[in-house]
Amino acid sequence: MTTVAALLSESAHADASLLLAHVLQRDRSWLVAHADAEPPQEEVTRFYALCERRREGIPIAYLLGTAEFYGRQFLVNEHVLVPRPETEHLIDEAIAFIDGPMRVLDVGTGSGAIACTLAAETAVVVDATDASPAALDVARENARRLNVSAACRFYQGDLVEPVRKNRYDVVVANLPYIPTTDVPKPPDPVSFEPRLATDGGPEGLALYRRLLPTLPDLINESGLVLLEAAPPTINALADMLRATLPYFTISVVKDYSALDRYVKAYGVESERLTSPLRGV
Ligand SMILES: C[S@@+](CC[C@H](N)C(=O)[O-])C[C@H]1O[C@@H](n2cnc3c(N)ncnc32)[C@H](O)[C@@H]1O
Repeated sequence: MTTVAALLSESAHADASLLLAHVLQRDRSWLVAHADAEPPQEEVTRFYALCERRREGIPIAYLLGTAEFYGRQFLVNEHVLVPRPETEHLIDEAIAFIDGPMRVLDVGTGSGAIACTLAAETAVVVDATDASPAALDVARENARRLNVSAACRFYQGDLVEPVRKNRYDVVVANLPYIPTTDVPKPPDPVSFEPRLATDGGPEGLALYRRLLPTLPDLINESGLVLLEAAPPTINALADMLRATLPYFTISVVKDYSALDRYVKAYGVESERLTSPLRGV
């Protein structure tokens, strides 16, 4: 049987080995193969300083300066949310839909994880917005490092305001969705992520409530909308989307941990044409 204490100490060990490999600029297999090596004191001091910051709760990704997302390394810092594995499922859904050079919008791009990944995996051009200029600096640098700058355009502004005159085949958004009262406090690592990236207002849907009314003018009739949110709010979000895009087929999708995590809406032209509301 595995105890909580054992799991925690394993996680602490895993974090420590990641930090030591980072400081020594080696990979973790090197540490195993060179267990008797004696690093210079300067590096030992740096390692202990990073361990102390980790102990305070600072996310390991901020200390390493990178996080892996969909098989690529993304620069991250305190201005962006650390991209989460559950968002990789949203990428899979988008890729399954994308067929040729479609136009994609990523609302609240943060590190650019979604925008850069879709640009790298498909032939799309991605517009990406964020309210935070500092987050957009990170996103632009990630696009440059991943060689997708030509396919990504980043805009600073509120939600879709900078691109409101455009139309898209795919709109994805992973907006802040933690209810204000549930936003964790230190030493929880989430408390060190930008409040702008985590706090979703009283019920966690404040940003989506403002985004949804903009969708009918933004999404093509046969397009795809993918919204990530917290499992307890997902059905409310799905109902809101049904009311906003009545001709779209709406479903709730589970993430790879089997938690309700996305609302998916896709428009089918034929469904629209046979709707009883046609011509209303
Ligand atoms: C949960 S993070 C998601 C970041 C990234 N898309 C990801 O999946 O890793 C939400 C992002 O939305 C941005 N954001 C918050 N309010 C916004 C607003 N009113 N307009 C545009 N972006 C906003 C935050 O700055 C943050 O980068």
